[in-house]
Amino acid sequence: MVACSSLSRTIAFVGGGNMGSALVGGIVRDGWSASDILVLDNSSANRTRLAATYGVSVTAASDETLARMDVVVWAVKPDAMRAAAAVGALSPAALHISVVAGVRLSDICAWLGTARVVRAMPNTPAQVGAGVTGLFAGEGADRSDRNLVERIFRSVGMVLWVDSDRQMDAVTAVSGSGPAYFFHFLEGLQAAAERLGFSPEDSRDIVLRVGHGAIQQAMQDRIGLSTLRGRVTSKGGTTEAALAVLDRHRTKEAMIEAAIAACERATAIGAQFGNADKAFLLAGKILR
Ligand SMILES: NC(=O)c1ccc[n+]([C@@H]2O[C@H](COP(=O)([O-])OP(=O)(O)OC[C@H]3O[C@@H](n4cnc5c(N)ncnc54)[C@H](OP(=O)(O)O)[C@@H]3O)[C@@H](O)[C@H]2O)c1
Repeated sequence: MVACSSLSRTIAFVGGGNMGSALVGGIVRDGWSASDILVLDNSSANRTRLAATYGVSVTAASDETLARMDVVVWAVKPDAMRAAAAVGALSPAALHISVVAGVRLSDICAWLGTARVVRAMPNTPAQVGAGVTGLFAGEGADRSDRNLVERIFRSVGMVLWVDSDRQMDAVTAVSGSGPAYFFHFLEGLQAAAERLGFSPEDSRDIVLRVGHGAIQQAMQDRIGLSTLRGRVTSKGGTTEAALAVLDRHRTKEAMIEAAIAACERATAIGAQFGNADKAFLLAGKILR
């Protein structure tokens, strides 16, 4: 694999919090030269930590360095994105990547005044290199831009391309919110372990090991999940008794309904940001 550093691109992160830090860590480990990375963050704690951990340049305020960057990654909270995008000096030729949850590609393009934008939706396991990131490219992003973006997000897990904001809402519902569904399920199993007499510490360890083991097995065997489940379920046995209770409570149907609710909520949030933008434009406060 060709190292990122061989591309000699300069990259800036606007926002060096949880996600900005995860991505900086990922690309540095992947070979991107720390001297080509700039992080812009309001928080002095984030700046100090990133400079000390990765040797990247940090700054509190936008300066002429930002204007020279080849790539700008936007990693601020959704409600801060619009103001952040109004930053003065940006290279008109830069490739922009937004990891800002919920804000639609068309809004980001309008705020930045360019279509050379890729919207990305990573999830929290990206912070430990095990993320799933959905990517949606704007019209101005060409094949080499897409390759570069893929490389950046592969440094923190797997990537998949989609071709609409609607599909990004689906990514948000399945992989973005997905870790919380697993935690919710694991919490239930941990409570069961405690009820059956294990200490809270042992219960947590057992449940995490079971979850990890089951997922590792599924990834290695690459057969259908229902076949794997069937292999653990003997007629008249303990697993069958447990699954009968889960079926009675329609847990699978509940999971589907939950993910659909998340998808609809993602769409509503995206519309809210877009409408807020329109209200802003109507008020005559156009920033660019
Ligand atoms: N965390 C995740 O796993 C995850 C997953 C998917 C998507 N995302 C998305 O990633 C984005 C960042 O999330 P996060 O958890 O990394 O947030 P975070 O930890 O709060 O980091 C954002 C940082 O950006 C700084 N900031 C805000 N506006 C700025 C500006 N104009 N210039 C410079 N710095 C600025 C903030 O400083 P102040 O707070 O002091 O203003 C903060 O330190 C969000 O839009 C989120 O939806 C995150």
